[in-house]
Amino acid sequence: MNKKFITGIQSSGTPHIANIYSIILPTISYISKINKNYLFFIFIADLHSITNYQNNNTLKNNIYKNAATWLSFLKFTKNVYFYRQSDIKEINELFWYLNCFYPFNRLKLCHVFKSNKNNLNTGVINYPILMASDILLFDINNVIIGKDQKQHIEITRKIAKIINNKFKENIFIIPKYKIRYNYIIPGIDGNKMSKSKNNIINIFDDKENLKKQIMNIKTTNKSIKSINYNKIKNTILFKLYKIITNKEEFTYLKEKIKNNKIGFYNIKIKLYNYILYFYAKQRKKYYYYINNKNIINKILYNGYKKVNKIAKKKIFFIKEKIGLNI
Ligand code: TRP
Repeated sequence: MNKKFITGIQSSGTPHIANIYSIILPTISYISKINKNYLFFIFIADLHSITNYQNNNTLKNNIYKNAATWLSFLKFTKNVYFYRQSDIKEINELFWYLNCFYPFNRLKLCHVFKSNKNNLNTGVINYPILMASDILLFDINNVIIGKDQKQHIEITRKIAKIINNKFKENIFIIPKYKIRYNYIIPGIDGNKMSKSKNNIINIFDDKENLKKQIMNIKTTNKSIKSINYNKIKNTILFKLYKIITNKEEFTYLKEKIKNNKIGFYNIKIKLYNYILYFYAKQRKKYYYYINNKNIINKILYNGYKKVNKIAKKKIFFIKEKIGLNI
């Protein structure tokens, strides 16, 4: 049987640097390096994104922005399925079944549940179960995730085990996960990069905004020359530079810093120029898709047709096991 990979990003805006480096680029590299018999399920997690209210137009635009970002990087081959979560009704159906097998007391141990306790909607609490259903519905072997999603995959594995034990049969595959960056990617203020914290770098933004984001990366007032090299290594700017640029560029920067030949301001300018140059092709493609939403719709519809068949088959099998198809 073909091995299957999955990954998804919430449609809460244009995916930012942290999404690109922890999810999109690793996925692209797996697709190009791994045996062609592997299948890749790549989807827009629009159902997850509505756990935080977005008005109608914002949500629609965010779905397109998410799609355009993936499409600016993806090369389509037969083994890549690109689709939208809410198009696959069976995800929601499986979601209910999974809910009925996972103890609520365990769910309450999740970090989402602990973190923003006021005003939690039920969707936020059930977020990990919906993720489990994204994954288990397709018998996925490997989930590509950022470090922050690890707990959710542990829950997915646990649910699969609980159900397999209960039915004394391997109803679900227990998925593994792949984490490219084993640390949290910082935003321009040093906290975890996140849309909701307003600290992102968006490589697809117009030049002026992109420049603003880079120039706003938090640095000290001290000149770089007066700072010990080991401390420079811990600065947000240095970390982001390391994540974003390639080896050659990063080595060049390190030499410049060690030889006292560059200050914070010019490092930022270099980073800005690097992004514009390095992602010129993706930026062009992104705008092409954003301006041709009908093409995005067509691509997503094609993805839906392929994935829908697999989903229907699995749900039929699960209903049979549960006893719902009399
Ligand atoms: N929660 C993920 C995020 O960080 C998105 C997501 C939803 C996902 N379902 C998934 C990722 C299943 C991998 C597999 O936005």
